[in-house]
Amino acid sequence: MAEALRAPRGTLDVLPEDGRRRLGLLRIADEVAARGGYGPIETPIFESTALFARGVGDTTDIVEKEMFTFEDQGGRSITLRPEGTAGVCRAYVERGMHKLPQPVKLWYWGPFFRYEAPQAGRFRQFTQVGVEAIGSADPSLDAESILLLAEMLDRIGARGVRLRISSLGTPRTRRAYSDELREHLRGREDLLSDDVRARIERNPLRAFDSDHPGTQAALAGAPQLIDRLDAEDAEHFERVRELLDAAGQPYEVDGTLVRGLDYYSRTVFEFESTELGAQSALGGGGRYDGLVEQLGGPPAPGVGWAAGVERMLLAAAPGAEDGAAPRVVYVATAEDADAVQAFGIARELRLRGMHAEVEQAGRSLKGQLKHADRLGAEYVVILGEGPVQVKDMSTGEQRETGSAAEAIELVAAGGA
Ligand code: HAM
Repeated sequence: MAEALRAPRGTLDVLPEDGRRRLGLLRIADEVAARGGYGPIETPIFESTALFARGVGDTTDIVEKEMFTFEDQGGRSITLRPEGTAGVCRAYVERGMHKLPQPVKLWYWGPFFRYEAPQAGRFRQFTQVGVEAIGSADPSLDAESILLLAEMLDRIGARGVRLRISSLGTPRTRRAYSDELREHLRGREDLLSDDVRARIERNPLRAFDSDHPGTQAALAGAPQLIDRLDAEDAEHFERVRELLDAAGQPYEVDGTLVRGLDYYSRTVFEFESTELGAQSALGGGGRYDGLVEQLGGPPAPGVGWAAGVERMLLAAAPGAEDGAAPRVVYVATAEDADAVQAFGIARELRLRGMHAEVEQAGRSLKGQLKHADRLGAEYVVILGEGPVQVKDMSTGEQRETGSAAEAIELVAAGGA
């Protein structure tokens, strides 16, 4: 195919086999979220650029270099959403959800876009599943949120899962801590990567995200934010931990955990999988108590997470997300068979909940039986060789029936 016509780098075509796995995961997500009282929400795939600059933070990698931003025909700056929380909070304000009983619990699934270097598990268009609970600072929501993702990962049999949690405190604590960390980093500036050095002033905490060896060395012995929490934040975090402990959820407290988005306060967390290689983050999130207000809404604390669907499926146990598969039946037609009748039988079988197909590519009867086997057919209904026959593909046994209706009954009953 001509180079110019190929799909853009970092995009995926989801072919049917993967498509089915994704739908299996979608069903699990819906079930798990619904049981927790979370309702589905859809927000636009493009939003005004200002929403992400304001919401995600303009010193973050995402806003500085990863957004797909363009001007529309009306001269407005538009961005393909790089994440979902800002859009959900915008909708919360814009659609008056703060007037509903609080907290408002929402979940979503859809495409997101980041201009990152593509590699295994990292794409420029990817899919996230996420939840947000807005309108309450109750620590049980933090724990509930974490446990929802844990449950989804458990349901798909995700392998090598590890959970890290921390608390970033309130913006005030963080400001005081940032000064302290800045001081520490300035004393070791020659060790730092250019990137981290350039950000000391604006966002020193991002140094913890760097895998640059010099930066890591500079951070050895650095003060940690989790040791600087005020009493209220420490108590909030303590309560989250208590609830996770009571639920038997294993985790590790990691004071170096910083997230790539600026809106977090208090609890942050990340689930990783050892199955994923370099892009090991399955999903992450945390509390964002100031975000709704920052977007022009009323004070409304929130907490949530998003997980990468492609990464979840890479870490999943094969087949774990499959639902119960319907019985497969093939309606085969010998040369002089009545194709209209065959079509009608297949339709009737589908109406009864089975997966039924007819011949549509001109194969011989022998070819059709081979094809039926490839499809995993349990039964083949054969028309045009005398009376209607039903072949049980597992035993090879072939039975004559009196009519199409009788064949349908036989197949529906599982051959009994
Ligand atoms: P995030 O950590 O930026 O958080 O992304 C969440 C997850 O999306 C990651 O853990 C990863 O699995 C997946 N992901 C991110 N970028 C890519 C990519 N380029 N390719 C494939 N997968 C990717 C957020 O987006 C926050 N909105 C989460 C949140 C919700 N916090 C509070 N509420």
